[in-house]
Formats: sequence, C-alpha cells, structure tokens
Amino acid sequence: MHLFHYANDRLFCEDVDLERVAQEHGTPTYVYSANTIRDHFRRLDSALGDLDHLICYAVKANSNRAILQLLAREGAAFDIVSGGELFRVLNAGGDAARCTFAGVGKSPDEIGYALDQQVYSFNVESIAELECINRIAAEKNVRAPIALRVNPDVAAETHRYISTGKSENKFGIALDLVRDIYAAAAKMSHVAIRGIQMHIGSQITDAKPFADAISKVAPLVAELKQRYAIEFFSIGGGMGIIYRRALESGTGKWWHDHGGESSAFSVADYASAIVPPLRELGVRVLVEPGRFLVGNAGVLLTRVRYIKKAARKTFVIVDAAMNDLIRPALYQSYHEIVPLIAPRDARVEPVDIVGPVCESGDFFAQDREMPPLQEGDLVAIMSAGAYGFVMASNYNSRPLSAEVLVSGDKFALVRERQSYFDLIRGEHDCDL
Ligand code: LLP
Repeated sequence: MHLFHYANDRLFCEDVDLERVAQEHGTPTYVYSANTIRDHFRRLDSALGDLDHLICYAVKANSNRAILQLLAREGAAFDIVSGGELFRVLNAGGDAARCTFAGVGKSPDEIGYALDQQVYSFNVESIAELECINRIAAEKNVRAPIALRVNPDVAAETHRYISTGKSENKFGIALDLVRDIYAAAAKMSHVAIRGIQMHIGSQITDAKPFADAISKVAPLVAELKQRYAIEFFSIGGGMGIIYRRALESGTGKWWHDHGGESSAFSVADYASAIVPPLRELGVRVLVEPGRFLVGNAGVLLTRVRYIKKAARKTFVIVDAAMNDLIRPALYQSYHEIVPLIAPRDARVEPVDIVGPVCESGDFFAQDREMPPLQEGDLVAIMSAGAYGFVMASNYNSRPLSAEVLVSGDKFALVRERQSYFDLIRGEHDCDL
C-alpha cells in the first residue's frame, strides 16, 4: 500500500497537499510518507509471523536519518555496507548489535570501526577479506562474528546491473567453495562463525527465485549447522515493487491499486514461498529489504521550467535532473510521472520529460503519454523513495535537493537543500 492519492483533484501524500510542500520548500524535493514505510515494515513483519526473524533494512536504499529513526523505532535491524552507513545508523539511534555489515570491499578502518561498535555480523565475500578481518580482530584482541555470503547461482529476472546471484557477478562465494572457506574460518583465532548469507538481486518481481535460492542453499545450511554454531541464515533483500501503473483514462482514477499492495507480488505470496522451508532449518532468519520498505513511499517533486517544441518531439524540461534521480539514465528504469493537479480529461500527448543537465541521458521519461503540461506546473516522479536521493550527486554543480517527511497531516524538512556554499565546502585554494 502507499499513501499517495488524489483528493479533490490534487495529489496528496497522506493528508498533506503536495503543493504546500513545494511552496514551502521549493523544488526539486523528495517527499516520503512515514506511514507507508510503517505499513510496509509491519506487513512484512507480520507475514513472517512466528518465524524467528530479523528485518535488516538495507540502508543503502535510503539513508536519511529520519527514515532510519522511524525504522529503528519500528524495531528494524540494519544491513549496512560502509562505515558511513554504520555511523548514520548509530547516530539515528540504531543498535550496532542489530547491524549486519555487507560489501565486497570493506576497508581496514571500516572493519576496525565495526568491531569497536560490535556489529552483529560481518557478511564476508572472500577468503582475502576473511583474513583481513581476522588480522584486525587479533590486533584488537576480539573475535569477529562472521557469515559467509554464498552465491547460489540462480537467475533473478532483473536488470543486469542489479542481478547479484549469478556466478558471473562479483558477489558471494560459489557453493562448491564455501565449505572450504568455512573450514578455514573455523581455524582462525579471531573470527567466530555466526551465520550464512545470500542475496540474489534486486527488483525481483516474482517469489519463485527466492524459493529456488532457498531450496538450493538450505541443504548447505543444514550441513553447516551440524559443524558450526550457525545462528542465522540471511536470505538477502530484493523484493520488487510496482513502478508502472496503468492510467485509467477518463475515470478520474490515476492508478490501479493492485489490491492495496505496492510490492510486485504480495507479501503473503512471498512469505508462503519462503517461510515453510526456512522454518524447517531451525535457525534465525534475516531478511534485508531496502526497496520494498521505502521505494513506493517516496516521490520526487519537480516543477516544469520550459516546454520546448522541437521538430520531432516535445520536451518538458523540469527542474530535477539525473543528478537528483539517476535510475532512468542508469537502468532505463520506468518511473510514473503524474501532475499535482489531476488532468480534467483524458487528453494525452507524447513528450520527453528531461532535466537541465548537459547530457542526452538526462531524462526521466521518453515518448511518454502525458496530460498537457505547462510552464510552472508541478509533477511528482513516483516510486523514488529507494535509490533516489542516496544516488544523487552534485554533477553540474547542482545542490542536492531537500527531503521532507510526511506523517498524517504534518510534514517536516528532514534534510535541507544544499546551498552554493555547500558545493565548495572542503575545497582549498591552491597556487601550486
Ligand atoms: N542486501 C544486499 C546484500 C544487497 O546488495 C542489496 C541491494 C539489498 C540487500 C537490498 O536490496 P533491495 O531489497 O533494495 O532490492 N541502485 C539499484 C539497486 C541496487 C541494489 C544493490 N543491492 C536500483 O536503483 O535499482
């Protein structure tokens, strides 16, 4: 479910008219719905039911402190991939003992920091990394809790940049090598085997690849459990969300509501595919959702600057750009784009919606059937809560956008728009 809807022909986030947000905080601005995030978290938590489980929010999807705080209050644990993410989680009131630390290239400093903070587990991706963790833990005279990330070599039907569970990806350790690395870990003086982890990819729109991967790895988990103190099995994240909603022209209703779900398959389907085989294993189950929790909980508000009619196309030039939301440019991903004032009729025309950045790749939509738009109109780029702001850059020296959190009829600025001075902070004059 998500809480963006039209009321009296105006687009609302929960009980807040989005035009008010644009008036108060300008554009481009990311707007997040707190109650959508809470709803997603609670749905997943209750679908996993009495299975011993921990929902480790994948911080990389959206690391705004207010969202981390909200999820910490809901009882989320966290999946982090850098020292910076650990710092953010701790700073937002999260608990290091409920953090898993993933990533193929952890630095010695990051490992040392995570050891000092006593994270729940390092998810290790190579023997070289394992040796490094053992060495740093020895220097600190502690034991590092570890899990190995296995690569189940299953195909997840998703964009090739975000598929991770195939053997040609850089992630994880092949199933046939992982036993030897566990054996090596067991002999290391300063690591303690705590679990096993996998992740097959992102934006997976079917429950089957999850079930396939679990059935491939479950025998290994059972076998390792006989030998080592395996406390948890993390099945990673990857639940896909709905990006594309058909326009029901003429009905005044902008989207199909997909039965109230904003995930690509229902949480109940996901749970019924994964819970029974996991329950049998008798270990704690970790899930690492990012996009599912926050993706459909956020939009990017932007204002139309100019309409440019070219020979073959009409360009709608908005004030957001690829530096604010890079997903269309990087993955050719589809984001629904809707006007803040509902169109009066079903008239549409094909346009390209583009940003001001000096690149042809700077587009949000190409040949998209849109209701007539004019200079000054506000539009919302939907499903931008995950991998939106976190992937933003200052390209073209564009200040990072503001972020606003809505809950009920209230909204608050949770990150200020950058100023021009922010752009040069930390730069030094130099006359070499
Ligand atoms: N766990 C691990 C080990 C991961 O690598 C990821 C995502 C997740 C969990 C969370 O996956 P999610 O539930 O959000 O699908 N920037 C891309 C997505 C990159 C995903 C990277 N890893 C995009 O915009 O689609």
